[in-house]
Amino acid sequence: MAVAVKAESGRVLGILLVFLFSSCQSLFSGGGSYRREVTMQLMPNSSSPPPGGELLHVRAVGGNDTLHFLFCSQGAPSLLIVHTNSSSSTVKVNWPQFLNRSASGGLTVEPQSSILYSSAVVFSRLLEYDDENNTAEATSNFFPAYDLKDFSWNLMNLSHPKALLCGSAPHSSNGSLCLQLSVFGTEGRVELWPRLLHSANSSQVEVWLSGLLPRSNTSRFMLELQAVGGAYPLSKVDVRQFIDDEYAPSIFKVSQWVSSVNNSSDVLGFVQWKPVAYRRSRPSLEDATPCRHSDPQAQSGNVTTASSALVKAFYTDPKVMGMNVSFGIAGEPFYNRTMFLSWTMLVGVGSPPVDSFSPMVIGIVMAGLGIPIVLLLVGGVYVIIRKMRESSETSYEPIN
Ligand SMILES: *[C@@H]1O[C@H](CO)[C@@H](O)[C@H](O)[C@H]1NC(C)=O
Ligand SMILES: *[C@@H]1O[C@H](CO)[C@@H](O)[C@H](O)[C@H]1NC(C)=O
Ligand SMILES: *[C@@H]1O[C@H](CO)[C@@H](O)[C@H](O)[C@H]1NC(C)=O
Ligand SMILES: *[C@@H]1O[C@H](CO)[C@@H](O)[C@H](O)[C@H]1NC(C)=O
Ligand SMILES: *[C@@H]1O[C@H](CO)[C@@H](O)[C@H](O)[C@H]1NC(C)=O
Ligand SMILES: *[C@@H]1O[C@H](CO)[C@@H](O)[C@H](O)[C@H]1NC(C)=O
Ligand SMILES: *[C@@H]1O[C@H](CO)[C@@H](O)[C@H](O)[C@H]1NC(C)=O
Ligand SMILES: *[C@@H]1O[C@H](CO)[C@@H](O)[C@H](O)[C@H]1NC(C)=O
Ligand SMILES: *[C@@H]1O[C@H](CO)[C@@H](O)[C@H](O)[C@H]1NC(C)=O
Ligand SMILES: *[C@@H]1O[C@H](CO)[C@@H](O)[C@H](O)[C@H]1NC(C)=O
Repeated sequence: MAVAVKAESGRVLGILLVFLFSSCQSLFSGGGSYRREVTMQLMPNSSSPPPGGELLHVRAVGGNDTLHFLFCSQGAPSLLIVHTNSSSSTVKVNWPQFLNRSASGGLTVEPQSSILYSSAVVFSRLLEYDDENNTAEATSNFFPAYDLKDFSWNLMNLSHPKALLCGSAPHSSNGSLCLQLSVFGTEGRVELWPRLLHSANSSQVEVWLSGLLPRSNTSRFMLELQAVGGAYPLSKVDVRQFIDDEYAPSIFKVSQWVSSVNNSSDVLGFVQWKPVAYRRSRPSLEDATPCRHSDPQAQSGNVTTASSALVKAFYTDPKVMGMNVSFGIAGEPFYNRTMFLSWTMLVGVGSPPVDSFSPMVIGIVMAGLGIPIVLLLVGGVYVIIRKMRESSETSYEPIN
């Protein structure tokens, strides 16, 4: 009898755990099943790249919609995302107009009526300052900024679904700044830290600086980004806290630069990152360095269109917000320690992915909650059975 009860309660425990586990999984990772077909192609589709920098087109086609990712090294590196409500929308480039950068309209997405949303991110400048007092304040002692539109950019190195773009500063043979774009057809995370959760609606850009000679031994760096949009540019940065750091050890925050439509909570597009950079390409925990961001500020649309051929070609009257991301905080090693820095972000449409609890954390929570619940249930069932036995025994008592 005791053995039977034990086996029974074991089975109940198993079923209960599976049930709780699966319901929590679906609770924490909603909407992740959307899939897209991803294809990438350089434009124009010929062996000779256009003069002045390349243009890559990545199509990510969903059920009834398409995300067009355009990645361009003509001027400052830029990534444009256009979301359409049609799975057959196309990108058209008027090359003479695109190359001479005199007017907008060099790049269009057709049919125009299918466009739901668009936004672009321009990697405008790399800033270096001499942090002689090790405060990481970044208020003075700036060296002349590296204007990324003046870098010489190599040809892109494509390996589906990634594109790698590296460039070096003018008059400098040492070191490079690289951007690697990845576009995904499904939800997931890449192997390398910070292992951001991506969806089929976001791309990932990893930026790294390698071997560039610092202009002082106590140099630190900042990256200036510009977000370009039509009616609703990315205007504010939200920082979210969570309790699980399994995917990016010791990082319990995620920052997201989002658009907001008037006051509603609807988010049309986003840039998302974890506030961490790494000082080695294959980092261990001690190579992680915190990073911070400045408040987004409105920028001149003319300056941005002058630096990015892609923005000039697509937008007529762009609204631009700029933000600096600074790497390292007071007391952290300076850049000269490893001569390397990498930082990763997602760029996408819709709401930013919400990191779910990892299966390990769910397991721990389940074990903590599940076992007492099971004990309670088993105890309850036992008491009920006792009660029923008793009442069925009493029912045999003779009626007076
Ligand atoms: C991605 O976008 C599609 C189309 O707008 C939407 O149906 C889907 O829910 C989105 N997926 C995620 C994970 O946001
Ligand atoms: C582009 O070139 C590739 C390989 O040469 C070819 O498979 C593809 O069909 C071409 N695409 C277009 C739109 O011409
Ligand atoms: C596409 O739209 C049609 C008509 O609106 C709808 O019936 C169909 O379910 C949609 N397909 C997907 C994959 O969303
Ligand atoms: C796409 O959006 C446009 C403009 O909003 C609308 O006219 C068109 O009917 C939509 N197409 C589909 C397939 O929903
Ligand atoms: C560093 O400290 C020295 C002495 O306190 C001060 O004169 C100097 O302005 C400081 N430098 C910076 C960049 O704040
Ligand atoms: C800079 O590059 C030159 C030429 O490639 C090389 O000889 C030199 O050693 C490099 N300097 C450093 C500090 O890496
Ligand atoms: C930087 O440090 C190296 C090694 O300690 C030293 O040789 C060099 O002179 C320093 N450079 C500057 C600009 O202080
Ligand atoms: C980096 O700079 C520090 C501070 O000046 C210096 O002590 C150190 O030797 C430098 N490291 C290298 C690798 O040059
Ligand atoms: C947004 O909300 C704030 C306060 O909640 C209000 O003062 C402001 O007028 C609202 N703006 C719009 C455009 O609705
Ligand atoms: C980034 O920092 C530099 C130096 O402080 C400043 O000149 C620039 O305006 C900042 N950019 C943005 C977009 O805030």
